[in-house]
Amino acid sequence: MKILVNAALPYANGPIHLGHVAGAYLSADIFVRFQRMNGHEVMFVCGSDEHGTPTTISADRQKVSPREIADRFHQEHNESFRNLDIEFDIFSRTTYPEHAETVKEFFLDFYNKGLLQEKSMVSPFCPTDNRFMPDRYIEGKCPHCGFEEARGDQCDNCGRILDPQDLISPKCALDATPPEFRATKHMFFRLDEFQENLLKWLDKKTFWKQNVLSFTRNFIKGGLKERPITRDIEWGVPVPLPGYEHKRIYVWFEALIGYVSGAKILSERKGKKDFWKEFYFDPEVPMYHFMGKDNIIFHTIIWPAMLMAREKYNLPYMVVANEFLTFSGKQFSKSRGIGYSVDDILKIAPKDYVRYYLASIMPESSDADFDIEEFQSRVNAELIDKYGNYIHRLVSFINNNRLSISSSETFLDGRDREAMEYAAERIRNYRELMEKVEIKKAMAEWLELVKYANSYFNESEPWKLIKSDPDRCKSKLYTSLVLAQYITALSYPLMPSAAEKIMNIIGSSKFSNEGFTNGLFRREGSEFKPTKTDPPFQKLDIIKENPNFVDLRVGRIVEARPHPNADRLYVLKVNLGDSDIQLVAGLRKHYTEEDLMGHYIVVVNNLKWAKLRGEESQGMLLAADDGETVALITPKGNEIKPGDPVFIGEFGYNDGGKIEIDQLKGLDIKMSRDDGNIIATAVLEGKRMPLKIGLHDLATSREVREGATVR
Ligand code: MF3
Ligand code: ZN
Repeated sequence: MKILVNAALPYANGPIHLGHVAGAYLSADIFVRFQRMNGHEVMFVCGSDEHGTPTTISADRQKVSPREIADRFHQEHNESFRNLDIEFDIFSRTTYPEHAETVKEFFLDFYNKGLLQEKSMVSPFCPTDNRFMPDRYIEGKCPHCGFEEARGDQCDNCGRILDPQDLISPKCALDATPPEFRATKHMFFRLDEFQENLLKWLDKKTFWKQNVLSFTRNFIKGGLKERPITRDIEWGVPVPLPGYEHKRIYVWFEALIGYVSGAKILSERKGKKDFWKEFYFDPEVPMYHFMGKDNIIFHTIIWPAMLMAREKYNLPYMVVANEFLTFSGKQFSKSRGIGYSVDDILKIAPKDYVRYYLASIMPESSDADFDIEEFQSRVNAELIDKYGNYIHRLVSFINNNRLSISSSETFLDGRDREAMEYAAERIRNYRELMEKVEIKKAMAEWLELVKYANSYFNESEPWKLIKSDPDRCKSKLYTSLVLAQYITALSYPLMPSAAEKIMNIIGSSKFSNEGFTNGLFRREGSEFKPTKTDPPFQKLDIIKENPNFVDLRVGRIVEARPHPNADRLYVLKVNLGDSDIQLVAGLRKHYTEEDLMGHYIVVVNNLKWAKLRGEESQGMLLAADDGETVALITPKGNEIKPGDPVFIGEFGYNDGGKIEIDQLKGLDIKMSRDDGNIIATAVLEGKRMPLKIGLHDLATSREVREGATVR
C-alpha cells in the first residue's frame, strides 16, 4: 500500500529547536519508519517555508536580504534534521521555480472557477515607513486572552487567528508607530463556499485526536469567511493577474501547496514525472499531515477546502498536531536562552537518546516538559540499565561460553512459549498504537517488553543451566535472543541508528523495509551469530554541578537622589520586576541623576546588606572602570525586563544564600574583548565566561577599555 506523509514546512527564519521536533518532525519520522517496516511504500515530504513576513522580519532585524536568511536556514534545517536521523524523501523549498508554477496553477484554477473574488480591504499602513505593513508586523494586545505581545496575524498565547484591527493598541513592530488603517485591493478565496462540505467531511474523522477535532469544529462554528490570499509585500510568489505586480501571494496559501510541489519535484528527481499523482489522485492512498498545534486550522480547514476546490485531489486522511513542549516548565524563548535547538542538544547527547526521550514524553495529548535532569535519568535508567544492559549481558554470556545458538537445536518449554506469547501481545499493542500515531503509548509497550525480557533472562539463570542442563540453557538463550530481536526491531522507528547497530551485535539479519512482514523476525531454522562488543550505549553524563553562587539580575533605576552624608554617593531605588531594592552607589562624579533615571543596570541581588554612611545598600550594581571612564553595565535587547536573570556562561544562579563582597571579588568580573566587542566576563571554576542574558552578551553604556575592572 502507498502512504503519503507530509510534515509542515518549517519557516526558514531560525534554528530548528526541540519544540519543533517534538511537535511534528519526530512523530512523522517515527510513523514513516514504522509504516515502512509494515511493508508500505511511503512518500515523506517536507521543505522550507521561505516566503512571507516570518522571513522578512528576520532579514530586517539582521540587516540582510530575505534570500540570504532563507538560504542559510534551509541549509541549517536540512543538516539539523539529518543529524537527528529525520529523513524526508525530499526537503523542498518554496523558492523553487516548480513551486511557483504549481502555485500559479492552483491560483488560476480557483480564479477560473470563480472561487477568487477581488475585494477592497482595510490594511495597516505605517506612516513612518510609508507603506502597508504585513499583519505580522503589527503588534499589540490580544482581544481574546489579553496577551500583550500578540501579532496582527495570530496570538501566540491563545493560538487564535487575528486581524491587525482586532489588536488593542496596535503598533508597527519596526518603529512602534500606531498604524493607520487604509483601503487596498486583494484577492479573496471563497472559503465560505466550503463550510457544508467541510463539516460533512469532518463528521467522518471520528478517529482524529480530540485536540484537533474540537479546535477545528469551534473554528467552523464561528462561520467561515472569504480570506484574503494576496498581500502588499515584495517577498513571495507573484500573483498571476494584471494590476497585482506589486503584490504577492499570502505565504500560508502558497506554503500549503508546497506539499504538492515537493512531491512533484521528488518525482522529477526519481525520473518518474507522474509518480506524485499515484499519491494524490488514488483515493486508496491515505494522506497524513504532521504539524504543531498552531498550524491546525490551516490543515483541517483551509488546505482541505483548497483540495476540494481542485476536485481531483485526495483530502487529508489524518491530521496529527502535537501540543507544545516546555523546557523545565518554561516556554521556549530563543532570546532568553530557554530551550535547546537541535544543534545545542546534539552537542551534549547522542541523537538516539534525544529521540528516545522526546518520544517518551511526546506532547500528544497535552503539553510536555523537557527537563534535562529527567532526560539524563530516564536515558540511564531505561535505555542503558534496562535495554543496553540486557543486550550486553546476553551477548557476552553467549560469547564467553563460545556458544552458537540456532533454532533447529532448541526445544521451547511452556515458560519459553509463554514469553513468546507475551512478546506477541506487546507487539500487537505497539503496532495498533503506532497505527493511531500514539507514539508515547507505543513506547511504553516497548519498555514493558524490555523489562519483561530482563526478568525472563534473570529467572532463566543460564549461568546455572550451562552446567546442569546445556540443552535447556540453549533454548533459554535462543528465546532471549528472539526477545532481543523483537525489542530491537520495535525500537527501530524510535532509534534507527542504535537499532541497526544492535541488530548486528545480536547477529540478526539486516533491517529490511518490511520488518513486520518478513526478514526482520527470525524464522525457524535460523541462526544467531552474536559479536563480541562493548555495551551498546554509553551512560549519559551531562548534568554538571552548578558553581554559580551569585544572583545577578536586570534592574531598572526608578529613583536617584544624592546621599545625604556623602558627596560621592547616590541612593538609588531599583526595580527588579516584582520588587524594588535600595542601592548606594559611588557614581556622582560620573552620572547625573537624569542619566540614571530609567537606566537598565545589572545588580548583585544576594550580597549581604550593608549600611553605607547611614543608608542601607541592599546589593550592588555593576559598573566598569578603566581608570579614566566609569560606565554602567547595561543590558540591551527589546525583550529584556527587570528581574531577568543574568547567567555566567551557561550557569544561572544556583540558590545558595547571601554572599560576602570577597566572594564576589573572587569572580574577577571585568571587561574582555570578544570578536571586537568589549563584553563583561567572570571566572567560575578557573574558567572565564561571558555574562549573558539569554543569548545577549553584556556591554557598557559608554566605551571603556579592554581589561576594565567591574565593581
Ligand atoms: N511554516 C509554518 C510554521 O512553521 C508551517 C507551514 S505548513 C505549510 O508554522 F503547509 F504551509 F507548509
Ligand atoms: Zn490571545
